[in-house]
Amino acid sequence: MRVAVLLLGLVVVCSAMAVTEGFNITRILANHPEFSTFNHYLTVTHLAGEINRRNTITVLAVDNSGMAEVLAKHLSIFSLKNLLYLHVLADYFGSRKLHQITHRSAVVSTLFQATGAAPGTTGFVNITNLRGGRVGFGAASEESNEANLESFFVKTIDDVSYKIAVVQITKMLRSPIAEAPTPAPNQYNLTLLMAKKGCTVFANLLASIPAVETAFEESVNGGLTIFCPIDQAVKAFEPKFKNLTVEGKTSLLLFHASPFYMSLQMLKTQNGVMTTLATDSYKNYNMTAQNEGEVVTLETKTSTSKISGTVIDEQPLAIYTIDKVLRPWELFKIADKLAPAPAPAKSKKKRSSTAVPAGPEGEPDDQTAADDSAGERLAGGRWLAAGAALAAGILVL
Ligand SMILES: *[C@@H]1O[C@H](CO)[C@@H](O)[C@H](O)[C@H]1NC(C)=O
Ligand SMILES: *[C@@H]1O[C@H](CO)[C@@H](O)[C@H](O)[C@H]1NC(C)=O
Ligand SMILES: *[C@@H]1O[C@H](CO)[C@@H](O)[C@H](O)[C@H]1NC(C)=O
Ligand SMILES: *[C@@H]1O[C@H](CO)[C@@H](O)[C@H](O)[C@H]1NC(C)=O
Ligand SMILES: *[C@@H]1O[C@H](CO)[C@@H](O)[C@H](O)[C@H]1NC(C)=O
Repeated sequence: MRVAVLLLGLVVVCSAMAVTEGFNITRILANHPEFSTFNHYLTVTHLAGEINRRNTITVLAVDNSGMAEVLAKHLSIFSLKNLLYLHVLADYFGSRKLHQITHRSAVVSTLFQATGAAPGTTGFVNITNLRGGRVGFGAASEESNEANLESFFVKTIDDVSYKIAVVQITKMLRSPIAEAPTPAPNQYNLTLLMAKKGCTVFANLLASIPAVETAFEESVNGGLTIFCPIDQAVKAFEPKFKNLTVEGKTSLLLFHASPFYMSLQMLKTQNGVMTTLATDSYKNYNMTAQNEGEVVTLETKTSTSKISGTVIDEQPLAIYTIDKVLRPWELFKIADKLAPAPAPAKSKKKRSSTAVPAGPEGEPDDQTAADDSAGERLAGGRWLAAGAALAAGILVL
């Protein structure tokens, strides 16, 4: 079970970042006064921001009397936050999907799981289709997926097809682990931490785009792993960075963090696709973690970076230095292929050591609508064809 849980942390579970999308949980619930207490606590725990930044998500809300029952336990705000994390499923479960669960029962990962504070299966919610069309919910136990199904589906509050569902359940789930006393989370100063280990330039770039800085800061307590490229690497990359649109810059920076806490030990023992804060609902902007012995590399189709050091590795936050800026394929696939065209003028440039994408270049046509960066706009069929002709061995930086 342990292995499965860790894998779920790495492999695409959910995710993230919708700077441009208009989902606002606070506003949705504001239209329903019977959820005002739940809504209030999403705000004071800063969970609302974390929810709004995700694209594929389900919020299990309870009405004011359900909240009153929980508030009577006098949990600290930090324990209450953990409990609320358990009520945010890291996947879309609209009413229809809830009522037609494959094999009638599923165990679903929650944001509590992403914090790294949930041992065993305690970060998972068991959803089971019961007789008479009822849908039961329960927190999975530490040892197994089995749950006391003591809360039930009531109604849909809002639903954006296959992306976001807000549903009412009869009462809050109970979880001894989530409700356990928990110390106040550390107030990390990300800039300071990164600067200490030679990532000052990267930290300054993060601070230069307020939406990015906020996304990083608000994601910390829900579990966050940051890959910060060392100053030397960022400086070398700066001309390319400056060339990006604001959206491109935003995506590139968000691409350097994953909305899960991943210890170095986890990275050293798990290979797999990882979502990032830039990952959209089409699962673009992902990368692959590879390990070989003690060496962990992060790969995209256009770059390979190596983890070179640990800044901090302490649940819920991990920061690692990397030797090269990560280049999301979505931003660089076309630029790289077209780069050689006007080459003669700058003939002294060295051949790039960056891996040439293996295999046929004609990537299956992708979800271009998701992104309006320069690269994506060029990604029409004719450019892909041109890219294929240019691809083999002539990539020059
Ligand atoms: C969400 O809506 C609330 C209430 O309308 C508002 O105060 C808040 O600023 C909004 N958040 C975002 C990120 O737009
Ligand atoms: C969910 O919990 C029920 C009740 O404890 C259990 O019978 C079922 O096997 C669990 N579902 C899964 C997928 O583990
Ligand atoms: C982090 O530390 C830097 C340098 O000491 C300081 O300028 C900045 O205001 C701090 N940020 C926060 C959020 O405390
Ligand atoms: C920046 O963009 C221009 C125009 O697209 C291009 O000619 C130039 O090579 C780019 N520079 C870098 C460093 O990518
Ligand atoms: C990763 O992103 C690529 C686009 O860059 C997409 O085609 C692929 O399906 C994604 N992988 C996963 C496992 O979601």
